[in-house]
Amino acid sequence: MASRSSSSGLAAFNVVALLVLCGCGWPATTEAHTQFGAYNKTCPQAEEIVFREMTAILAKSPDLAGPLLRLFSVDCFVGGCEGSILLNSTANNTAEKDSPLNKGLRGFDVVDSIKAKLEVACPGVVSCSDVLALAARDSVRLTKGPYIPITTGREDGNRSSAADVASNTPKPGATVTDLIALFARFNLTAKDLAVLSGAHTIGKAHCSAFSPRLYNFSNNASSDPTLDANYKATLRGQCKAGDIATLVDLDPSSGTIFDLGYYRDVAASRGLLSTDAALLLDADTRAYVLRQANATATDDFFADFAASFYNMSKIGAITHHKGEIRRQCSVVNPPSASSSATLTTIAAHALLLAISLFTVFALALAL
Ligand code: HEM
Ligand SMILES: *[C@@H]1O[C@H](CO)[C@@H](O)[C@H](O)[C@H]1NC(C)=O
Ligand SMILES: *[C@@H]1O[C@H](CO)[C@@H](O)[C@H](O)[C@H]1NC(C)=O
Ligand SMILES: *[C@@H]1O[C@H](CO)[C@@H](O)[C@H](O)[C@H]1NC(C)=O
Ligand SMILES: *[C@@H]1O[C@H](CO)[C@@H](O)[C@H](O)[C@H]1NC(C)=O
Ligand SMILES: *[C@@H]1O[C@H](CO)[C@@H](O)[C@H](O)[C@H]1NC(C)=O
Ligand SMILES: *[C@@H]1O[C@H](CO)[C@@H](O)[C@H](O)[C@H]1NC(C)=O
Ligand SMILES: *[C@@H]1O[C@H](CO)[C@@H](O)[C@H](O)[C@H]1NC(C)=O
Ligand SMILES: *[C@@H]1O[C@H](CO)[C@@H](O)[C@H](O)[C@H]1NC(C)=O
Ligand SMILES: *[C@@H]1O[C@H](CO)[C@@H](O)[C@H](O)[C@H]1NC(C)=O
Repeated sequence: MASRSSSSGLAAFNVVALLVLCGCGWPATTEAHTQFGAYNKTCPQAEEIVFREMTAILAKSPDLAGPLLRLFSVDCFVGGCEGSILLNSTANNTAEKDSPLNKGLRGFDVVDSIKAKLEVACPGVVSCSDVLALAARDSVRLTKGPYIPITTGREDGNRSSAADVASNTPKPGATVTDLIALFARFNLTAKDLAVLSGAHTIGKAHCSAFSPRLYNFSNNASSDPTLDANYKATLRGQCKAGDIATLVDLDPSSGTIFDLGYYRDVAASRGLLSTDAALLLDADTRAYVLRQANATATDDFFADFAASFYNMSKIGAITHHKGEIRRQCSVVNPPSASSSATLTTIAAHALLLAISLFTVFALALAL
C-alpha cells in the first residue's frame, strides 16, 4: 500500500514533470510573465555584472544616470519593455531611435558595453531589454534613490519603427489630461504619472525641450507666465534664443541626486518642462507634488517610485521564446542564428519529452 501510493506519487510527479519539461502545460492559459532572478541558473552573476559596470561608468560620468533611466521608460512606452529602442535603423526601416521625438536620447553605448561584458560571462543568455531594465534601476540606486527589485526574463523584440513613436510618446505641449490618458493606456494611473515624473529629479533636458517657455510661448505672451521669474532669467542665460543643443538640469537644486528636489521645484513654479509644471493642474497630481514637496523624508516617494517603476517595467514584456536574446543590442540576430536556436530548443524539448515518456512507461510496466 505504502509502496503503491509512493509509486503513483512518482507517476504523478512524472506527468507534471513532462508538462513542465515540454513547456505545453500552462502557456496556453497563463499570461507570459517575467520572474525575480530569472538568470539564477543560467547566469547567476548577471545582475551583479550590470551593477558593477554601472558603478564604474557612473563613477567616471555621473551624468549618464539620467540618460539610462530615460532610455528604459522610452523603451517601455513604445511597444513594451522589449529593447526596441536599442535597434538601429536599417536600409529598409527607420527605427524608433531615429524618430525626431527621440533625438535627445543618450546612453546607447553604455548599454552596448554592459551587454558586451555579459556576452563574455554568459554568451547568448541575458537579453538587451533586461540589460536596459537593470541599468535603469541601478541608475536610481547609484544616485542615492531606492534599490528596486525587478523581475527579469524579458526577451528582445524585433520590431522598431519610428512610426510607432508619436502615438506612444507625450507631445512636447501635452496637457496633464493628455499625460493621464497616455499613462492609462499602459494601466498606469495619475498617481503613477506624478510618481514616475519624479525621475526628473536627475538628468538633463536640451534647451529645445523648453525654450518656447522662455521666448515664444504663445501669440499674446512671449514667455510662460507660470514660470518663476528668477528661474526664467537663469534659464535665458543658459539657453540663448535659438540654442537647441545645450543641456540643462531638470532639477537645478540637485541634478545628480535622486531626491525630493523635483517636487520642490515643481511646487515652486520651477518645473523645467511644461509637462512638469502641468502636474499642478490636475487635483490628484497636484496633491502628490505638494505632499512630496513638503515631505521631510524620502521614504514615501521611494516606496511609491519603486512600485510604479516595477509596474512600468512589466509593460509589454515578451517571454516564452516569443522574442530572442539579441547578441548585439543594436541589431536583430541574423536569421540563421535565431532559426538554429529555435531548432535547438525544439530538439531539446523533443528529447526531454522522449525521456519523460520512457520513464512513465517504465514505471507503468514496473507496477
Ligand atoms: C510624463 C511623461 C514624461 C514626459 C513628458 C517626459 C519628458 C521628458 C523630456 C522632454 C526630457 C528631456 C529630453 C531631452 O531634451 O533630451 C526628459 C528627460 C528625462 N526623463 Fe522624462 N518624461 C516623462 C516621463 C519620464 C519617465 C516615466 C521617466 C523614468 C521613469 C523619465 C525619465 C527622464 C530622465 C531621467 C530624463 C533625463 C535624461 C537625460 O539626462 O538625458 N521621464 N523627459
Ligand atoms: C532566484 O533566487 C532568488 C534568491 O534566492 C529567489 O528569490 C528567486 O525566487 C529565484 N528565482 C528563480 C527563478 O529561481
Ligand atoms: C548602431 O548605430 C550606432 C550609432 O550610429 C553605431 O555606433 C553602431 O556601431 C551601430 N551598431 C551596429 C551593430 O552597427
Ligand atoms: C530589410 O533589410 C534587411 C537588411 O538590412 C534584410 O535582412 C531584410 O530581409 C529586409 N526586410 C524586408 C522586409 O525587406
Ligand atoms: C519577428 O518576430 C516575430 C515573432 O515575434 C516573427 O514572427 C518574425 O518572423 C520576426 N521577424 C524577423 C524579421 O525576424
Ligand atoms: C491592462 O490591464 C488589462 C486588464 O487587466 C489587460 O488586459 C491589458 O493587457 C493591460 N494593458 C497593458 C498595456 O498592460
Ligand atoms: C514660435 O512659435 C510658433 C508657433 O508655435 C512657430 O511657428 C515659430 O516658428 C516659433 N518661432 C521661433 C523663433 O521659435
Ligand atoms: C491670451 O489670449 C487669450 C485669448 O486669445 C486669453 O484667453 C489669455 O488669457 C491670454 N493670455 C495672457 C497671458 O494674456
Ligand atoms: C506642508 O506642511 C505645512 C507645515 O507642516 C502644512 O501646514 C501644510 O498643510 C503642508 N502642505 C501639504 C500640501 O501637505
Ligand atoms: C501595479 O499593478 C498592479 C496590477 O495591475 C496594481 O494592482 C497596482 O495597484 C499597481 N501599483 C502601482 C503603484 O501602480
